[in-house]
Amino acid sequence: MHQSEQIKVGEQIFKYIDNSTTALAEQIYKQPVKEYTSQRVSQNERSTLFQKTPLCIGLSDLLPKNNTYFTHDLSEQPLLLTRDENGKFHAFLNVCRHRGARVAESCGKRQYFNCPYHSWKYDLKGSLINRPEEISFQLSPKSEHQLVELEATELDGLLWVMPRPGVSLTLTDHLSTIGDDLKHFELGSFYHYESRSLTKRMNWKLVMDTFMESYHFCVLHKESICNIFYHNLGTFDPAGDHFRLVFARHSIEELRNLPKAEWNILPHIVSIYILFPNVVLVWQLDHIELWQIFPGQDPVNESIMQVSLYTPDECCDEKSKQHWDKNLELVLHVTENEDFPVGEGTQRGFYTGAQNNITFGLNEPALAKFHSTITDKINEDRE
Ligand code: FES
Ligand SMILES: [Fe+2]
Repeated sequence: MHQSEQIKVGEQIFKYIDNSTTALAEQIYKQPVKEYTSQRVSQNERSTLFQKTPLCIGLSDLLPKNNTYFTHDLSEQPLLLTRDENGKFHAFLNVCRHRGARVAESCGKRQYFNCPYHSWKYDLKGSLINRPEEISFQLSPKSEHQLVELEATELDGLLWVMPRPGVSLTLTDHLSTIGDDLKHFELGSFYHYESRSLTKRMNWKLVMDTFMESYHFCVLHKESICNIFYHNLGTFDPAGDHFRLVFARHSIEELRNLPKAEWNILPHIVSIYILFPNVVLVWQLDHIELWQIFPGQDPVNESIMQVSLYTPDECCDEKSKQHWDKNLELVLHVTENEDFPVGEGTQRGFYTGAQNNITFGLNEPALAKFHSTITDKINEDRE
């Protein structure tokens, strides 16, 4: 976040503190409960949001060197991501062009993939370079059996993939003003520390909703983050389909009497970037947490997610390791013990017939923005 942007955000936060208010929506938003329980809605989300929207799958350091790869199985499209010998990022479907087996597992460094079934051999650009018993296949040329490549790009330290073959990916203007913030964080210089996967019995959008307001901070989190952050106070800045939320730590008062030109608000905030549709990138003091959230095996009622911690330095001595472990444990503790149990209860409650709509108040503008964008995208796609 640029200094000029920090001043703008800092001024806004002090205004909210002084007036005991927060960023407000223009109107109350009624969100139909069926958006969280309907198979039809879930299918529309699958085809529009998870097949035809560029998805951020992490920071550049997931592919730290040339000739590295990793597999990604959070979505229903099994992905194989590589950085080739020239450093170029590629995304493929992890599906062998012989009879469809998975070509690779996990992550690592290598120049070729040998399919575990019959040993067809691919390079990191997806070309089929060898297959045993070539004579049996020569009427079906190798060039027609490359791995299926997906449109993908690496921009300012973030890896983006279009999950559906044949759909083009354009990031120009995609990130809008949020892009400037992210660029300034130099995400490409961060190191991947660790990722954890979680499965929860709640619709994927309920997980997303968790991150979008501070109205619950001193209620649900009264024993944890309430002491650190202002309750029901934060900025909200839409940028295209995405948006940024900034929540303030009480420590921001230290800046109040300093000249604005000297303000560094970063130690006094958490800055949350919702990268539509399913990624939450959190700038937290000195590191990045990145959540990827997908519909699970039961796509209406289950979500699968991965949280990854990225650090400014390569790991590390014992003391630093303890520091990062503690950070990861803290975020997991708060979400797993406080946020997600409420979400799982909410999902069950949606089936009780208690109400047809839930209500997003004026103080929850990000929730209205997120859900109206989903509706708009799905409607546009069906026109
Ligand atoms: S399925 Fe991959 S080599 Fe046969
Ligand atoms: Fe929370």
